[in-house]
Amino acid sequence: MNKGYFITFEGADGCGKTTQLELLKNYLVNEGFEVVVTREPGAKGLGEKFREILLNYDGVVSDRCESFLFLADRAQNIDTIVKPAVSEGKIVLCDRHIDSSTAYQGYGRGLDIQQIKNLNLLATGGMLPDLTIVFDIDIETSMQRVGKNKDRMENSGNEFFNRVRNGYLELAKQEPDRIKVVDSTASIDDIHNKVKNIVLALLN
Ligand code: TYD
Repeated sequence: MNKGYFITFEGADGCGKTTQLELLKNYLVNEGFEVVVTREPGAKGLGEKFREILLNYDGVVSDRCESFLFLADRAQNIDTIVKPAVSEGKIVLCDRHIDSSTAYQGYGRGLDIQQIKNLNLLATGGMLPDLTIVFDIDIETSMQRVGKNKDRMENSGNEFFNRVRNGYLELAKQEPDRIKVVDSTASIDDIHNKVKNIVLALLN
């Protein structure tokens, strides 16, 4: 059986990646591919508990504690959902993954970037996405889309989100083969077409 593919969707809050993931999933299913969708934080099962703490806990959460909770959620997602599906030849689409930790906890919160990258590899058992699409958006548009009801992470402020955005762009420069950047201010259809082309280039 062919090996499957692991594709991750990344970007600042409100960048529209979840809409694009859904559109890509529908397209791939129509083309006859077997597709599994998952997300971080909050993959089906235990991940939902991690998500509840990470987004809604209203007491103090230290930056390092936050990092380890995201990493624990990631390990569970990889071991119970991503790896089994990829080894069965399926295409796994994951809403956020390792680059979220590097962008948010590393560039955003200011933890050591190389340490976060090493911890990511520990969490995934060395597995890396075959392809990562970063949906790039300016902070004003992203915060407008998020609106007034912000969760714990979304309340981190504009400077934080500027660091996150620039962090993603820096990561894409460091790993141009894996990470592709898409301008997320274009129309939903235009972005979908770009995403499709990037993914088809991988599958073919
Ligand atoms: P979510 O509601 O899934 O946001 P979005 O729809 O924008 O993906 O919330 C996930 C939040 O957690 C988001 O603010 C990014 C943050 N996050 C990290 O800070 N580090 C991580 O490793 C991951 C996976 C997410």
